[in-house]
Amino acid sequence: MNLRPPKLPDEPPPGPARPGFWKSPLRGPWLSSFLGSALLPLIVICALTGFLSQLAYSPDLGDNNILPAGGLGFDIFPFSWPTDPAWLYALTQGLHVVSGVVAIPLLFAKLWSVMPKLFEWPPLRSVSHMFERISLAFLVGGALFVFFTGVMNIQLYYPWNFSFVPSHYYAAIVFLAALALHVGLKIPTIRTAFRERGVVRPLNDDLAHTVAEPCREGSTAPLEPDAATMSRRALIAGVGAASIGIGAMMAGQVIGGPLRSIALLAPHGTNPGDGPNGFQINKTADAVGIGAAETGASWRLSVEGRRALKLSRDQLLAMPQHTYELPIACVEGWSTTQTWTGVRLRDLAESAGAPGASQVLVESLQEAGSFRKATLSGAQIDNEKSLLALRVNGVDLSLDHGFPARVIVPALPGVHCTKWVGSMKFEVA
Ligand code: HEM
Repeated sequence: MNLRPPKLPDEPPPGPARPGFWKSPLRGPWLSSFLGSALLPLIVICALTGFLSQLAYSPDLGDNNILPAGGLGFDIFPFSWPTDPAWLYALTQGLHVVSGVVAIPLLFAKLWSVMPKLFEWPPLRSVSHMFERISLAFLVGGALFVFFTGVMNIQLYYPWNFSFVPSHYYAAIVFLAALALHVGLKIPTIRTAFRERGVVRPLNDDLAHTVAEPCREGSTAPLEPDAATMSRRALIAGVGAASIGIGAMMAGQVIGGPLRSIALLAPHGTNPGDGPNGFQINKTADAVGIGAAETGASWRLSVEGRRALKLSRDQLLAMPQHTYELPIACVEGWSTTQTWTGVRLRDLAESAGAPGASQVLVESLQEAGSFRKATLSGAQIDNEKSLLALRVNGVDLSLDHGFPARVIVPALPGVHCTKWVGSMKFEVA
């Protein structure tokens, strides 16, 4: 039996595989190098802040790790997630989401600039060419998958039946490995393009002076270019304006204040309601089946350490109350700073006979939905600003914000600031 693939004709079929098919005089190594160089720092910021987000979940504690195979299996950062400054997660996750969306127009422009190469003929020339094409499939496929799932997650829209975090995480690793290889292989092309044409010099050319780059073997510059209908600087200005515009719309939900009104891409709209409890809600009580029955007068907080306690809300209110302004920052990138009042976690540990506890497992009353429990570290329990909050902005928490009690800890991802707390189990140090 002959297992060899049939030999392809040397002559490409009609259409995009023909060398003369692509006519834009803007395409060429300089444009790809320029767009790639603008994209690269955004991808680096997005990648680093993405890995920091995973660190912020403290995956080494309890069941916090949501990656099936434990992630990469080694620590990228040589430290554990701190509790100071309190706005750290708001900053890193805000940067993750903003750099990600800012990269999208640049990514599409970059893909447009290299489009002819995707239709290269013959599709496989040699074994090394085959490996290069496979790495490009991972690069382009990985980029599209990671950015698409990220944007859908910001919108809290999951039109698929796989789990978002592991898929986004592992696809990002494949994408980043393919990108490192790609950039490494393209360094000679980038150096030649910038040496011959300058890094920004082509941006000086107006429409009348916009001509195609020389069409060398294997380059994206067109064989038979049309006359330019726009200059390179107009193209870059358009892509840059799209990136800045979409970035500003996203940044509004991180920075807040008047900018929040232009956060048109925020998943919950720009108006979270009025009054002291009028700030973003990711998961409503209704959505996870929490109602008055679970949170009414019969609610008791179960606290375990060396001894077990059942505390009513009134008993918690009778303990020393502390008030701090703390941000709550969500993995979807939004954050908001509010004034929280409640009992210090370390006071609760002490009352359960577990002073200096090494960790605490906090479980919500909710039975449905994800993130119904989280384990906090000894440092997070010990921080004076770490609270079991009972009130916000001078009033009782609303049901949607976690009444009767919720966790609020400096720099902790919002998903771990458990709402509708039912039990806390302190591990004795
Ligand atoms: C999301 C990231 C990226 C994707 C999906 C992507 C995709 C591609 C593809 C499919 C090609 C055509 C295949 C080839 O020429 O071998 C290409 C070419 C190229 N890429 Fe990228 N790339 C990305 C990032 C970058 C970055 C960060 C740089 C520079 C720092 C870069 C620089 C180049 C250059 C110089 C070429 C050659 C263009 C030519 O020969 O005319 N790319 N890219």
